[in-house]
Amino acid sequence: MTDNPIFAVAARAQALRAQGVDVITLAAGEPQAATSAMVVEAAVDAVRDPATHHYGTAQGDPALRALVAAAVTDGTQLPWSADDVQVALGAKHALFLATQALIDAGDEVLVAAPGWPGHAEVVTAAGGVAVPVPTDDQFRISAEALDNRRTPRTRAVIFSSPGNPTGAVHPEPRLRQIADWAQRHRVWVISDDIYQAFDYTGTYRSILRAAPQLRARTIVVGGVSKEHAMTGWRVGWLAAPPEIIASARLHVSRTITHVPTVNQRAALAALGDTGTPVEAARDYRRRRALLVEALNGIAGIDCPLPDGGMFAFPDVTGLLRDRGWAGSTELAAWLLDIAHLAVVPGEAFNAPGRIRVCFAVDDETLITAIGRLQTALGPTAHETTVRQIEEAR
Ligand SMILES: Cc1ncc(COP(=O)(O)O)c(C=O)c1O
Repeated sequence: MTDNPIFAVAARAQALRAQGVDVITLAAGEPQAATSAMVVEAAVDAVRDPATHHYGTAQGDPALRALVAAAVTDGTQLPWSADDVQVALGAKHALFLATQALIDAGDEVLVAAPGWPGHAEVVTAAGGVAVPVPTDDQFRISAEALDNRRTPRTRAVIFSSPGNPTGAVHPEPRLRQIADWAQRHRVWVISDDIYQAFDYTGTYRSILRAAPQLRARTIVVGGVSKEHAMTGWRVGWLAAPPEIIASARLHVSRTITHVPTVNQRAALAALGDTGTPVEAARDYRRRRALLVEALNGIAGIDCPLPDGGMFAFPDVTGLLRDRGWAGSTELAAWLLDIAHLAVVPGEAFNAPGRIRVCFAVDDETLITAIGRLQTALGPTAHETTVRQIEEAR
């Protein structure tokens, strides 16, 4: 079993820090911000409430499920109730429960390449085979690409929009095309909507809003991790047809019993706070522009402006060629050792000519990180970028 390469970068950065090195990380797949004080207060109140000290229900707190159902109803424009929702230990666990419910040994599941390795990992964990589907020049999957990889064993497709690491947002016509293909070939769709609040183009749509007829074959996955800076709290969910929810509930009941009640209460408070994700999206949008501009100022780097998400995903092949590096793993190792800056090599996502750079960090961190990048790699004057960032605040 191989570990996720993203964690390998984090581990190396941590080891350097332990030696006293001032490492800055743009490698994390999470917001740098702390969880809001309001959510923390709700959790403290929950800790003090003896009701949270005892067992709860396997499916999850009905009040939380009702709020999730309302959010999914809003996103899909289809009616969902608390019964249609299973609470999980984060979106990753929700994806795990979904694949455990759907997949028999040897079933194939299509995943985007480049794409988040967690999608392939949950498929493998369920005894299935993850089949990478090449994305187009905007990192979107298409019905044509899916069909090229379809076999009689194809059971499902998993994709996220906005995506990680690409930021790709699939516009409605593309979602309809994918949905038609899935419908035609009786393939399930697992829609990982964990980044849905971070859409900078205004084009995000749930696939079920684009194609409501797909409901009986669609699993919607979400969570509070990214939108509410709550990765450590481990609360996510799936909304799905009854047979999937029944399977997920049984799995939870037989394994973890239920998601810790205090954490569910924190998620409940988060879902009542619509301001935090909007504010975060506004900040990320600004930081995205600054980071992308700085990256494009470095010779050998070509960085598209991502439509959504929390990451820039530049093409660094020019840089690799100029410096004689074999791949972006070498570049990332060099940056960590020389500039004390952590980024994720593209190899982690099936894209060896790219790196993933997170912009969900505060302004100070971004300014320092860009300065280190430019000092290490680029001719662009650091002061210019610092001034631009300060002016944009
Ligand atoms: C596309 C995608 N889905 C799911 C997750 C996992 O989210 P959670 O922390 O809620 O398990 C991540 C985390 O990086 C992700 O990038």
